[in-house]
This record gives sequence, C-alpha cells and structure tokens, in this order.
Amino acid sequence: MQIMIVDSAALAVRTLGDARLDSPLAPLLDARRATQHYFNESDRVLYDDTLGMVTARGVTVDQLPGFEPAGPRRRIFFDPSKTRVAIVTCGGLCPGMNDVIRGLVLELTTHYGVNRIYGFRNGYQGFVASYGRDVVELTGESVTGIDEMGGTILGTSRGEQDPEEIVDCLERMSINVLFVVGGDGTMRGALRIAKVVEQRRERIAVVGIPKTIDNDIPYTDQSFGFQTAYSAAAESIRTAHVEALAAPNGVSLVKLMGRHSGFIACYAALAKNDADFVLIPEVPFALDGPDGLFAHLRAKVKHRGHAVVVVAEGAGQEHVEGDPDVRDASGNAKLRDIGTFLKARILDDFEAHGDEINMRYFDPSYSIRSVKANAHDSVYCLRLAHAAVHAAMAGRTEMVVGRWHGRFVHIPMALAISSRNDVDPHGDLWTTVLEATGQPVTFGAPAR
Ligand code: F6P
Repeated sequence: MQIMIVDSAALAVRTLGDARLDSPLAPLLDARRATQHYFNESDRVLYDDTLGMVTARGVTVDQLPGFEPAGPRRRIFFDPSKTRVAIVTCGGLCPGMNDVIRGLVLELTTHYGVNRIYGFRNGYQGFVASYGRDVVELTGESVTGIDEMGGTILGTSRGEQDPEEIVDCLERMSINVLFVVGGDGTMRGALRIAKVVEQRRERIAVVGIPKTIDNDIPYTDQSFGFQTAYSAAAESIRTAHVEALAAPNGVSLVKLMGRHSGFIACYAALAKNDADFVLIPEVPFALDGPDGLFAHLRAKVKHRGHAVVVVAEGAGQEHVEGDPDVRDASGNAKLRDIGTFLKARILDDFEAHGDEINMRYFDPSYSIRSVKANAHDSVYCLRLAHAAVHAAMAGRTEMVVGRWHGRFVHIPMALAISSRNDVDPHGDLWTTVLEATGQPVTFGAPAR
C-alpha cells in the first residue's frame, strides 16, 4: 500500500471536461445562501481541523489542502436525456446497499430526468460475458421498498475482473456513468476501470460509494452500514452479558467481524458497556503470564463472578496456528479462527488452575451485516447517493463520495485506497475503550 502525502494535488478530483449544460437543480441552488451549512462549490473543506495541524503545514491559507465539496453544481457535463447509467454492488454485504441503489435511482430519475439505468448483477462478474449474468433495468418503481431489505437486490461477488472486458461492456451498452458500491478492493478495481476509460479516451464517469462494516476506509468520517453493524453487534454483547450473569463463574466470549480494524468491537463494546475485555487487531496481547489475558480474566471472574470478552476476528492472529498467506477472492488474508481458539484456551486455563467456569460462546458472524440499515445509516446512504449523482452528472470521475468533518466531499479514488483506517492504539477511541472496560493498557505484550 502506497501511503500518500495529503496535499492539494492529492485531493484534486479529475473531471471529464467542461460542464456546459444548465443543471435542472439550479433553481434549488439559487434558493441557498452561503451559510455555515452550505458553501459554494468552488470552496474547499479543509483537510486539517486543528490549529496545530494548520500551523505545522507552514503554508499560506490558500495553499492549505482541502476536499472538493459534494453537492449539486449549477452546470453539468452529461445531458440527462441521453445519459445511460450503470450501477454495480461488490464485495461483502453491508447494511444500506439497497438504500444506496434506491437513492441513486430516485435522484437520477426524479431530479435529473435520467431514465436509462441498468443494474449489473453479482459485482464485476456482471460485466463479463462468460458469466452470463443478466442486466436489470432500474426504475423508480422497481426500487420501491428495497430499502426495507438487507443485502443488495443486484447481488454481489468478490474478486477482480479484467478492466478491459468491463470497459468493453460499458462501451457496448453506451454507458456514460458507472456507480460502484464497494470496499477497498472494489475501489481498486474501479480505479483500474477509470484508467482504461481514460486510455481509450472515453467519457465515462466512474464514481464510487465506499461501503464496509469494518469502517476501514480512510478519509471519510465513517463508512455507511458501520453504525447498523455495530448496533447489531452490541445486541450480541447484551445477550452475552445476560448469559454470563446467570451462571456461576460465567464467561461469555463474543467474536465479532473486523478483519484488520477493530472499530466494530470497540463501538459495540461502548454501545453496550458490559465488556470487560476488548481485543482488536491493532493492539497485541499476551495470553499467558502474570500480565496476560488469562490471568486478568481469572482475576475478574474471581472478583465479580462473571466476565464478558469481545474479540475482533482479526485480533491475536499471531497466537493461532495456520498459514498466514491464504487469501480470499478479494486478496484479503483468510483469518485463523481466534474465537474458537480463545474459547478452548480459556477453558484449559481455568481447568489448569482448578477454577470453575461456565463458558458461553457467541459468534454473530454475518448476522450483523445482513440486516437492513438503521435510520441513521439510511439517511447517510441517501445523502451519499445524492452526492454521487451530483458528482457524476457534473463530470467528476475516478472519485468516491464521503464525509469529512461532517461535510460531504469528493475523495480521489487513489487517495481512498492508499491506506487503511484503523483504531489508533494511542488515540481517544481506544482510550475510551480502556476506560469503559477497565482492562489493562497492555497484556504484557510489546506495543506494535
Ligand atoms: O470486509 C467486511 C467483512 O465483513 C469483514 O469484517 C469480514 O472479515 C469479511 O467481510 C467476511 O466476508 P466474506 O465471508 O463475505 O468474505
């Protein structure tokens, strides 16, 4: 992964050409005044938001890096009556994918008057002839009520497909705008598609709506679906706590998703503040010895009569045997099962010390991401979808939409895939988790 320096050049968004047509949304813009809530399309959302960060740049105000604000433009690049749009959803499921599809379709049809919108099935496979996936026409009517369902009506898949073949398909269907809903692997694929489009001197906008329950996409406040996913995960912690309380020396162990980033585990544990230990990929922990997890767990159970342990699936991988190089279709490392490993080792440890234990094991797994979006995420998805449509119709490409310091912005795709958002072991989220659980700062493991 190439870490990018965030300066004005890194935040510049590519445009297909001059926007020469009046936007049908211009009257809406005329009614808006520049206030603290709305600012002009030529303005920028500052990347840095503390005096210290700004001062450290040592540049003049006009040189401070800033994101291009999202929102409707006065002039657009594509003629709505002749615009053909493709939508595809890729990668693992995430609450809100259907909300995004619906938001895109309704904004395109109702406000811009774009009436040729096609859904491609099962991720990038949908563009590749050999898979034989059908293409569905999307209309305001066909997306009615889809936000009531989890998942994605278009289906999804993991894995790369040949960008040349994908662009062949876009050309064959005379597509002008491609909306891609997916995570980092998907956005890497979208960037390759945009590059092929550029090489062929085509004018096809490629705009991403980043999705992941893991919240590991950088340069955006939060990814959509994350809040719903951790709310569902918090319910598992609630039931785990009830079980632990009911049995003598009850220990509940909850394994949650979170491959490289422990946001779900942290937020769920804060939402349902009953976890005694939270283990995440970003913070190493020792198992044995006087400072290790097991000693602390035994002490907690002795003292309180019960305990709840939350572990993110990517935590403590170094403790679990197995091949670290096995990968899934998206190129992600296949994780060894820390949940069942810890369950067995905790039982062994209590037995070895002659302590009673009633272990309950919870693995809510996919059930936290296949649910429909909660109200917060539904709003967020809709606003991201609108932002994506405005950007694409104005001719922006090779970018994703996101929110930075509470404002909707355009993020260049290369930047969005240049790093990973993770829990900073020295940051205030992890400090809050340490405060909420009372767990030791380290379990005797050297910091990473
Ligand atoms: O990336 C999101 C995520 O939910 C991870 O937390 C999890 O490891 C992964 O997807 C599992 O997805 P799948 O089983 O679909 O590959």
